[in-house]
Amino acid sequence: MAKRGTGPSYGISMPPKSPNVGLNDGARMPQLGLGLWQAPDEDAAQIVGAAVDAGYRLFDTAAAYRNERGVGEGLASAGVERDKLFITTKLWNDNQGYDAALVAFDKSLMRLRLEAVDLYLVHWPAPKRDLYVETWRALIRLKEEGRARSIGVSNFEPEHLQRLMDETGVAPAVNQIEVHPRFQQRRLREFHARFDIRTQSWSPLGTGTLLDDSTVGAIAKKHSVTPAQTIIRWHIENDLIVIPKSTTPARIRENTDVFDLRLDEDDMARLAQLDTPDGRIGPDPMTAPF
Ligand code: A2P
Repeated sequence: MAKRGTGPSYGISMPPKSPNVGLNDGARMPQLGLGLWQAPDEDAAQIVGAAVDAGYRLFDTAAAYRNERGVGEGLASAGVERDKLFITTKLWNDNQGYDAALVAFDKSLMRLRLEAVDLYLVHWPAPKRDLYVETWRALIRLKEEGRARSIGVSNFEPEHLQRLMDETGVAPAVNQIEVHPRFQQRRLREFHARFDIRTQSWSPLGTGTLLDDSTVGAIAKKHSVTPAQTIIRWHIENDLIVIPKSTTPARIRENTDVFDLRLDEDDMARLAQLDTPDGRIGPDPMTAPF
């Protein structure tokens, strides 16, 4: 990959491209950001740099991605004030439990070179461990201390969310779940809406598998945009927070150019029909082996 500053469109930090959306705790976050799953640690700094230059301000990593160090390096040299960035990381399952979560959080902060993250998520409910409620209490403490400005979860099903709310009285600000046109998660999104929990879409392009879909292709052609832009815009129009992953600078830029595109009712109706009950690509949170 080219070094930052050597390419024609590098080295200029674009103004933020994405609008912000409100969370149930009063915070605001960009609706579009960069997913860093599978971004190698040694490349992460350059990827983050390219994305900042393209106007991204939301970066989504996790302890399990093993790239927090590279992400931290990229953020430190990005030349953007800390308060203009929105950084999410996640607690891995092995570190669930009240004390273990606090220790793991400190390690994430250290790797990221940050004093606080904007959003800290419990990565999976891991129901067999049955530790997610006490883990959530640790996150509530981190929020009270101001070191995690907002707190949320990932891959939680309604029963897990309900239990958190019943036992602690604190609703997550965000539930980050697998969502894309082939797996639209309408039931879970309706549950979120009832409790003012924001839905954030992971693998929003279906890990890239939706890019060859003929319906997506036809709509993209109609609007003279790419399939990736069409799908990202579908997430935006559905009021989802979306974090497409790319390690390629040109695609990173392409994926943020979605704010002049408008999908019409017919486009949205056709994309709605792509939903299938077995469209899930990633693990099922109820049965995941970890
Ligand atoms: P790459 O990282 O090589 O750019 P998801 O966000 O649903 O997990 O999808 C990520 C996958 O989609 C990655 O394989 C990524 O490849 C690919 N991808 C991301 N953006 C684009 C794009 N604009 N055009 C084509 N492929 C893309």
